[in-house]
Amino acid sequence: MGVNIAGRSFLKLLDFSSDEIRYLIDLSADFKRLKRSGVPHRWLEGKNIVLLFEKTSTRTRCSFEVGGMDLGMGVTYLDPGSSQMGKKESIEDTARVLGRMYDGIEYRGFDQAIVEELAAKAGVPVWNGLTTEFHPTQMIADMLTVRERFGKFEGIKLTFFGDARNNVANSLMVACAKLGMHFCACGPKENMPSEELVCTCKSIAAQTGGSVTLTDSVCEGARDANVIYTDIWVSMGESEELWAERIRLLSPYQVNASVMERAAEDAIFMHCLPSFHDTKTTIGASIAQKFGICEMEVTDEVFESPRSVVFDEAENRMHSIKAVMYATLK
Ligand code: CP
Ligand code: NVA
Repeated sequence: MGVNIAGRSFLKLLDFSSDEIRYLIDLSADFKRLKRSGVPHRWLEGKNIVLLFEKTSTRTRCSFEVGGMDLGMGVTYLDPGSSQMGKKESIEDTARVLGRMYDGIEYRGFDQAIVEELAAKAGVPVWNGLTTEFHPTQMIADMLTVRERFGKFEGIKLTFFGDARNNVANSLMVACAKLGMHFCACGPKENMPSEELVCTCKSIAAQTGGSVTLTDSVCEGARDANVIYTDIWVSMGESEELWAERIRLLSPYQVNASVMERAAEDAIFMHCLPSFHDTKTTIGASIAQKFGICEMEVTDEVFESPRSVVFDEAENRMHSIKAVMYATLK
């Protein structure tokens, strides 16, 4: 039977079967081919979408905007500063209003419970553009990137280094489990994903031929890894005061040349971006001044190396977000 997710919200990968996730990855590859060969695909002409952002964004916002416009849709961007949302009107009330006007709603913000509530109230598909717990659209792009490099998912080992209980790490663990990959979280014990989520992912992996392991050993994490993945050490919405502690805890898990050397011969480096690999940002420069470090979760050498596929990942955000919108709105 064919896969059909029309009318559904896209809130977290746990809500989708392995086949449904593979379908979204295949569809993303189709959209990439269309875009690259200049074939118009205004298949959702006449529809309109709204993007609710409570946190900043470059890739996710632009992917929804360009993706929506390529599909022929009208797109409205709302940040907390330019609408009633948050200050004078609750998120739920905003959703009920927007659900009367738009065909789909994207939300980036805080608790997963908010996006779940939006979806329950809006009456139209809601897409999670990042919450504290999960970043599911990032996963479709990342898994497309993995398949472009290795031609398969089964048996591929992906190790996440660093803050292994953040939204991206949580989502990677689910994505790998669903696709029969070997996920390894490599970081200090204090920053491991919740026991509950680990348990859920282990039982999914048991059915798909994948696995989930947690380690505080860099050697073990890097050994035979095909994909070395990391993310920033302090996520959006977390206190600036956490930097000192995170630098102390996570510096041993920085992705550098020695980590890449320990990985599989064909290993690639992935990062959802943005990344602190130099001091060309205000935060990067201020950390350098305060703590005397010029690179954080990844060295500039690895970030700029031929093994790094971070800009393929960034491009794939657009193709995959287009796939998510099309599959749920068609
Ligand atoms: N990777 C990602 O979500 O990037 P933005 O924060 O720029 O959207
Ligand atoms: N963990 C990061 C991901 C950014 C795309 C954050 O939440 O800030």
